Amino acid sequence: MCGIIGFTGKRDVKEILLHALETLEYRGYDSAGIAVKQQKSGKTEIFKCAGRVRELRALCDRSEISSECGIGHTRWATHGGVVNRNAHPHQVGKVTVVHNGIIENYKELIAYYKLESGLDSETDSEVAAALLNHFYEGDPVAAIRKAVTTLRGTFALVILFDDQPDTIYSVRNVSPIVATISEEGAILASDVTALCQFTNRYFVVPEYHILTMKPDSIRLENLKGECVEPEYLTVDWELNSSEKNGYPFYMEKEIMEQPDAILKTIDKRIVDGMPDFASDGVPDDLFTGCERICIVACGTAMHAGLILQSLVKRVLNMHIDVELASEFMYSDPVIDEKTLVIAVSQSGETIDTLEALKYARRHGAKGLAIINVKGSSIARESDYVLYTEAGPEIAVASTKAYTTQLAVMYLIVARMAYLKGIYSREQTGAFIAELRRVPEAMREVLAKRDEIHRIAGRVIEAKDLFMIGRGLDYSILMEGSLKLKEVSYIHSEAYASGELKHGPIALITQDTPVVAVVTQKKIRQKEISNIREVRSRGASVILFEKAELADEVSAEFAPCMLPDMQDEFMVMPASVALQLLAYYVSCDKGFDVDKPRNLAKVVTVE
Ligand code: G6P
Repeated sequence: MCGIIGFTGKRDVKEILLHALETLEYRGYDSAGIAVKQQKSGKTEIFKCAGRVRELRALCDRSEISSECGIGHTRWATHGGVVNRNAHPHQVGKVTVVHNGIIENYKELIAYYKLESGLDSETDSEVAAALLNHFYEGDPVAAIRKAVTTLRGTFALVILFDDQPDTIYSVRNVSPIVATISEEGAILASDVTALCQFTNRYFVVPEYHILTMKPDSIRLENLKGECVEPEYLTVDWELNSSEKNGYPFYMEKEIMEQPDAILKTIDKRIVDGMPDFASDGVPDDLFTGCERICIVACGTAMHAGLILQSLVKRVLNMHIDVELASEFMYSDPVIDEKTLVIAVSQSGETIDTLEALKYARRHGAKGLAIINVKGSSIARESDYVLYTEAGPEIAVASTKAYTTQLAVMYLIVARMAYLKGIYSREQTGAFIAELRRVPEAMREVLAKRDEIHRIAGRVIEAKDLFMIGRGLDYSILMEGSLKLKEVSYIHSEAYASGELKHGPIALITQDTPVVAVVTQKKIRQKEISNIREVRSRGASVILFEKAELADEVSAEFAPCMLPDMQDEFMVMPASVALQLLAYYVSCDKGFDVDKPRNLAKVVTVE
């Protein structure tokens, strides 16, 4: 949460900062601000306001800014309301700061160091600026060293000192900062999407290390003052892959990119028709040596975990739990050295998932992470990583990250089934061949977008909606329901259709929209009975059904047909249909689809 940018170099900084903040806005959009070192006066000047980056841009356009060194921030509010004075940057004395994270002991620090008089906002972040100013006696690194050893909590701090021209300092604990240097200057940001405009090479600033950036140099040192070589990573995202490329919203672009993203994710892991993780460095004994699996994840990533759970039970007949990462540590999880913990995360920065993984590893489990962002905190915390190849996902509502996570999970199941002797070579090959058909099936659904757009018209006025299904269909609908509620603000509940009559059916009245997905042959009959039960209570049923299963019974509901794949694989085309449904409802309601209210894409607070 909160996006940070800093640049010092040989280019006008205003546009660099504003463009990067637009790219990072998915991390929070309650307020935005920049601080620049004005060339004429040498002073550090702040421009900030509550609201979006576009409002900050308007403010900056009305101001005189001439600078080649500055920092910026886009905020997801934690401490203090969404008002101008709580927007970052914060300036106290000679120090200007932007912050991502939560300073837990800010009240104690105010009292102990008598910082109250210098404070103007309600934020914990301003206290970091006041503390740094308190310790500052002309040596920035010395002040930072003292400050970070007194701060408790999570922080990515980016700092300007009034009397240090062209220089940006940074230090962090947990909250991410990546940085790089190019011919044009040195740049840092909360995540790599903001650096793509400069270069594909970057490094992660290690925790409790101080970064000093000048226009033509960077220095990384530990708290003892010893110089540390940055470990550079390469991201193979196109330099423009974080742009909209003509789509009105990132969400639509990202939905459309799914067939290619799936192919990219699976192709490099299929060798001679067989699933193969050798190039990822994931050894087979990770899978053969474990007795149980536990998935930890949040939001959409947790929903991907539900699919893996069904597959593992169905194919491998093995014990597997899916835990909400935020609940994990407090639920007395059963973990030992025979447990494989799989952490699933698009950003690799979700703090609950990170903490759950750390907890599991402390208790002896082996960690495997399924992650989209290279070098992210969860990736670094894990014993092994399987990267999804979704490319940058910018829309807050996750789409291609989810389906590429699923693709990796299908590969895992296939590899495990083969290693455990459950599948022969031929059966494994056949499973993988079906997986390879997923992109084509997804394309068939994408080709039906006009039909799905029309269906969206049936729910646009709804206040409440139900999504019902059984087994894998129910798991898909949990994700479909989350998608709809986050982008359209319609209250939507996914329900296992067999459970309806134990309570929720009381809420079905005339014209209540009920979305049903039917893709699993062995439970179809029961699903259809449940759909009839809601229809006879007046529900307006929207049915998505695997074409091959449809008959004269389901014809009554005029289903939107889904392409035929083996039942286990229907998850992926069906998910695309539900993503499109949510997308069009949000669009037609005139919402900012990519930035739903109150949300942020990267959740770095517990
Ligand atoms: C936020 C995002 C969701 C995402 C969840 C977990 O809530 O809005 O789209 O599923 O965080 O994020 P992660 O990066 O760990 O997948």
